[in-house]
Amino acid sequence: MTPIYQTSTFAQEAPGVHKGYEYARTQNPTRTALQHALAAIENGKYGLCFASGSAATDAVIKLLNPGDELIAANDMYGGTYRMFTKVFQKYGLKFHFINMQNANEVSKYINKNTKLIWTESPTNPMMNITDIAAVAAIAKKNHVWVCVDNTFASPYLQNPLDLGADIVVHSATKYLGGHSDAVHGCIIVNDDVLHEQLKFIQNATGAVPGPQDCFLILRGLKTLHVRMQRHCENGEKIARWLRENKKVDKVYWCGFEDHPNHAIAKKQMRGFGGMLSFTLKDDNIDAAKKVLSSTKLFALAESLGGVESLIGHPATMTHASIPREERLKNGLTDSLIRLSVGIEDADDLINDLNNAIG
Ligand SMILES: Cc1ncc(COP(=O)(O)O)c(C=O)c1O
Repeated sequence: MTPIYQTSTFAQEAPGVHKGYEYARTQNPTRTALQHALAAIENGKYGLCFASGSAATDAVIKLLNPGDELIAANDMYGGTYRMFTKVFQKYGLKFHFINMQNANEVSKYINKNTKLIWTESPTNPMMNITDIAAVAAIAKKNHVWVCVDNTFASPYLQNPLDLGADIVVHSATKYLGGHSDAVHGCIIVNDDVLHEQLKFIQNATGAVPGPQDCFLILRGLKTLHVRMQRHCENGEKIARWLRENKKVDKVYWCGFEDHPNHAIAKKQMRGFGGMLSFTLKDDNIDAAKKVLSSTKLFALAESLGGVESLIGHPATMTHASIPREERLKNGLTDSLIRLSVGIEDADDLINDLNNAIG
């Protein structure tokens, strides 16, 4: 197995003569092995690892300069929205949050200052789909980078670089690690110059992961394909079961034939994953809270993508940092419940939900 190089520094033979490693913020052999593995599974040339998905996002935004403009999906992980609006806006970056379900919308917001288009697909938690190839084609024409947060799909189901994106970001805390035991993030790119710039930011600002966490993510990657197959199977069974349940109102899952962008999901993904959200017919926060506190197999917790199933309440948990009016505009109601369907027995999971929904 790849050794865990638990060291902060590396002995050198003479001043300026080293064996490829000088100081562990800059490089670490365990991290190098993981960076190569991540690049390979995203069909990219270069991987760069970070201390969290948020640190990876932060590094991408640091490519930009004051006055630059960024177009982002209006439905994405709340922490990304928080970083853009509360951390980076004050440095003179301008963000346009738009509905990216129709790729052509993007063109309306491109001007000479636009440098980056940021999207997630499927989005967290509304499971909206962006046509990555269509957005990338518009971006290319205008010399704008496209970054896709591919956390929800994982490289097993979708490879944004193959669809024309320039940058892929993951919260490796989720499906890549897969066991809810490490916080980690990564960036994958093809372009040499972009890689050099991001590597510089990685080293200069230093949000790097330790070797133990790199080892855990490396181990997680070895079962990604098997886990994702089961996440997809269980996700589909639960989505279809929820849809038949009389107490359930809307179910958001991009595998439904009548999902607004199902055709695009089918075109750009190899499966629909294990993430889904739903609302109750009794659309009030207390009814939702009762379900959220009643499951026994689905643990009530933040995060997603681990082998164990999780249930969450975006309005008060993952997306609490988005103002309520903004959330409601995108359908993220107070009673919305999000599931990260794990790899347990699907019938056990359905039983658990059945008991909780009542
Ligand atoms: C889609 C998505 N992107 C990025 C992040 C941030 O990742 P991390 O928690 O590893 O910083 C999350 C976290 O939930 C996420 O769901």
